[in-house]
Amino acid sequence: MRSISVLGCGYLGVTHAACMAELGHQVVAVDTDDAKVAALTAGEVPFYEPGLQELVDRHLRTGRLHFTTSYSEAAAQADIHFICVGTPQGADGAADLGYVDSVVDALAPWLDRECLVVGKSTVPVGTAARIAHRLVDRAPGKGAVLTAWNPEFLREGHGIADTLQPDRIVLGVQSPQAEKLLRDLYAPLADAGVPILVTDFATAELAKAAANSFLATKISFINALAEVCEATTADVVELAEVLALDRRIGGEFLKPGIGFGGGCLPKDLRALQARTRELGVGDSLAFLSEVDAVNLRRREKAAHMIRQQCGGTLEGKRIAALGISFKPNSDDIRDSPALHVARRLSVEGAYVSVYDPKAMKNAQRCHPELHYEPDVKSACLGADVVTVLTEWQEFQEIDPWALGSVVAQRQVVDGRNTLKRTDWERAGWVYGALGRRIRS
Ligand code: UDX
Repeated sequence: MRSISVLGCGYLGVTHAACMAELGHQVVAVDTDDAKVAALTAGEVPFYEPGLQELVDRHLRTGRLHFTTSYSEAAAQADIHFICVGTPQGADGAADLGYVDSVVDALAPWLDRECLVVGKSTVPVGTAARIAHRLVDRAPGKGAVLTAWNPEFLREGHGIADTLQPDRIVLGVQSPQAEKLLRDLYAPLADAGVPILVTDFATAELAKAAANSFLATKISFINALAEVCEATTADVVELAEVLALDRRIGGEFLKPGIGFGGGCLPKDLRALQARTRELGVGDSLAFLSEVDAVNLRRREKAAHMIRQQCGGTLEGKRIAALGISFKPNSDDIRDSPALHVARRLSVEGAYVSVYDPKAMKNAQRCHPELHYEPDVKSACLGADVVTVLTEWQEFQEIDPWALGSVVAQRQVVDGRNTLKRTDWERAGWVYGALGRRIRS
């Protein structure tokens, strides 16, 4: 058992804190937001992540997890400190490191004994070395304060499994002591067979940026092929199936549709490009700007298909948008392709009614111009077009015969290639989807 602190009680921080408590460690999680700390202390997780609420409840009860606003308390209690704050997109696409720096500056004055500060946030290559110097400069413990970089790879909606059964753990370290501390901490995962890769700071930092950029590239690759399919008689879903069965390619992240969004892939892709430009090697990853461009075009294409189903204009049409989160099993609407499409339709004069199983509160706060309904049926009442924008399981289970009786016109645009096309066509729907063969 080790005593650790987690700095930042966002999605990453709370998930990491609860999972470390689950591994048997004593965890104090810190945030400067009093209201958030009070809510978490009362057992209220302020965002939706499957299983997290239960895990937090359990470890508030075991006493292995608690929340505070006090950095001095964290420094007194823990000897490993995890930086888990956001690195949002800043100017020119570069990552904004303001939160990372303020956490380091708030913690450093209290670090008067041997300890390890571990970055988990996604940062531009070179940040860990800078943070290590900053800590040695500002902490009373000076050289006794070690730094390491241990990037997280967790996906929203799978955060707990991705933390407790990750594909790999990456440790960017400069000293054997730092490596030993982290190996001890993660020993239960290593014992269960999780590979631990030990490397330097720069490689660890790049590992995260590279993984997310590769995933984004894979999605845009299939979406670019969807554009080619649309210019031919080919079908992108059948094409993706063929590619997926090649074990060298694999089927993950090869799902065509309105593309990627969220708090990570789009921003990490841009931050990596910005960093390569700073390093004078901008040409090396120049193709990533095309990955971004393909991704944004797919949203526009979905809006175009819906407009076409409406006879060329959206003015006064009723559109039911099913899904508003950037992906299923999440209430996150950051850079959500679904939200982008819904807003575009609304801007062009459509009455857009939205249903999403988890993300409506978040969407409603920022986008009151959309109309929010409590279920699929109410959202689809009188609709000229129904569009599926996030592939929630619930939408795959819709009975197209039953839904056909509440809409004004049986027209559907499947923005995620998630519906069983033949079932919908048999029930009399005109089915449209990105990159699919048009049936006469
Ligand atoms: C991502 C990385 O997967 C994770 O390792 C990293 O730590 C954080 O960023 P996340 O943002 O939670 O995770 O979502 P992810 O599951 O990767 O999906 C990203 C986006 O791509 C979603 O909008 C999703 O709908 C879209 N997507 C995914 C596709 O359009 N097609 C696919 O085949 C897969």
